[in-house]
Amino acid sequence: CGIVAYIGPREAYPVILKGLKRLEYRGYDSAGVALLDQNLNVYKKKGKVADLEETLVGKNLHSHIGIGHTRWATHGEPNDRNAHPHLSASGKLAMIHNGIIENYAQLKEDLVRKGYVFHSDTDTEVLLNFIEDIRNNLGCPLEEAVRVALKRVVGAYVIVLMDQDTPDTIITARKGSPLVIGIGKNEHFLASDASPIIEYTKEVVYVNDYELAIIKADELILKNLGNERQTPYIQKLDMELAAIEKGGFDHFMLKEIFEQPTTIHDCLRGRLDADKGTITMSGISKYAEQLTNANRIVMVACGTSWHAGLVAEYIFEELCRINVEVEYASEFRYRNPVIAPGDVILAISQSGETADTLVAIENAKKQGAIIMGIVNVVGSSIARLSDTGAYTHAGPEIGVASTKAFTGQLAVLTMVALKVALEKGTITHERFLQLVRELNAIPEKVAKILEQNDAIKALAEKYKDATNCLYLGRGYNFPVALEGALKLKEISYIHAEGYPAAEMKHGPIALVDSELPVIFIATKDSYHEKVISNMQEIKARKGRVVAIINEGDKQSIALADDVIVVPETDEILAPMLNCIPLQLLAYHIGVAKGFDVDKPRNLAKSVTVE
Ligand code: G6P
Repeated sequence: CGIVAYIGPREAYPVILKGLKRLEYRGYDSAGVALLDQNLNVYKKKGKVADLEETLVGKNLHSHIGIGHTRWATHGEPNDRNAHPHLSASGKLAMIHNGIIENYAQLKEDLVRKGYVFHSDTDTEVLLNFIEDIRNNLGCPLEEAVRVALKRVVGAYVIVLMDQDTPDTIITARKGSPLVIGIGKNEHFLASDASPIIEYTKEVVYVNDYELAIIKADELILKNLGNERQTPYIQKLDMELAAIEKGGFDHFMLKEIFEQPTTIHDCLRGRLDADKGTITMSGISKYAEQLTNANRIVMVACGTSWHAGLVAEYIFEELCRINVEVEYASEFRYRNPVIAPGDVILAISQSGETADTLVAIENAKKQGAIIMGIVNVVGSSIARLSDTGAYTHAGPEIGVASTKAFTGQLAVLTMVALKVALEKGTITHERFLQLVRELNAIPEKVAKILEQNDAIKALAEKYKDATNCLYLGRGYNFPVALEGALKLKEISYIHAEGYPAAEMKHGPIALVDSELPVIFIATKDSYHEKVISNMQEIKARKGRVVAIINEGDKQSIALADDVIVVPETDEILAPMLNCIPLQLLAYHIGVAKGFDVDKPRNLAKSVTVE
């Protein structure tokens, strides 16, 4: 989500609208503004910021104070009702929120008992009424009520509030989600990142976690949650506008690659509890019986999502002992597939809008299959059509080549497999716990790999002039080879093929010469010795070998021209780590060749035509 707010002598609405457009990459399913003149008015609309703008043409939007929001739904369908800002029960407070209030259900229960009525499905409205309730009970200033409320809140947030009774003040607080305050001459700007602010002022304050700000046109007071004054640390922005929109990264793709420790963590959060050794997924539990008794699971997807399905095939068969098939949606929909009672279809899609996947599941549904959606975009068509499912919570993915959505899909699919396996009794509780712990450690290990960005960039320089490239792996790492090759193809336009390392002998080996880079995914697993033999076969034909390995793998180090070392994990989870250096390698090669990696030629982010 993106937030923007303004207080000062300018008209607030144009400043907020322009800011929301700049932040739209952060969310684009609904937008809204609250403006305070004589009255507090809230306008919100499902869809893009431009849709909101259109509905406001001709309205009196005069105001010198306002807040605005662009939403990327994670909880609660994207619609007008759930769009921000929200109004409190009295109609006097308006609030925008970025983040998740984890204990909202309990807070809501208490408020409902007190007679509060809710007009949306959001956690935001709960927090807002909670604040209002405290203010009414204590008879205290809004600032105090916010402080008291936030002490009771579990989760991540940036909130920005306006109060009809104090029309010269904006109150904001943050924990976890980003917040920048721009300091102008007798005016202040607030936003999720500096991009809406930079054209007005270069002086900014990055608000820290657990800080609260009381902002008037000519005054900024910063406090901690203990009500102690803090000295705002004013920084000078030294950045191009374009760079800021990408959070300081050169491209969305790089930004998204680097977000993965956070996005995987977000995906696990609230579901996987490593201390208790549990996985909670309500959408999956609802259909637990159908899953455990499934004769067959069919994964239906396209592109990178199809690769996630392939990894999941290995995982489900190993852990759950259920027969799995992985289908290209475009093939599946036009065949006359045999669908038997008790078949479960898992539709995997980042956008939730891919036409082939959508129609494939529509057809299967008509034949009586149960549809589960593993989708990133909340409220998307596939999510709505599915009987149940789980979101990947990777946040908006802008770069056309999918990166963080892929690791999110792997995390969700692994959790589903673990739940089913435990329920079915096809794995021991001890093995379950071991995998839960390992899965929990993945975000940290991804961060370790990202530290090698510079070394991978140097490798990209070395290999960028290749005209062909072969990616090889076995077992869980075979789909990783496919995904590595796809990433390179998509953004560097180098022809690349992924192959099972042993199958390479039946064709691609004919391509091997001293020019051909062969990327081996060779981390330690039950196939490792065999992969080493395949590496020897390539080396014997003078191929240039780059190997993704674990620490201390002397055999690979001796054979390979270059190695990238990744942390060890359970072989079932290794794809989530091993794909990271391949994403970076493809990215840097694409950049070195001077291509637009965020918008590769001919490709689309969401293929809504067949
Ligand atoms: C397009 C995108 C790919 C994506 C594929 C499937 O080809 O460029 O990155 O993997 O569609 O999209 P979906 O949204 O269904 O995962």
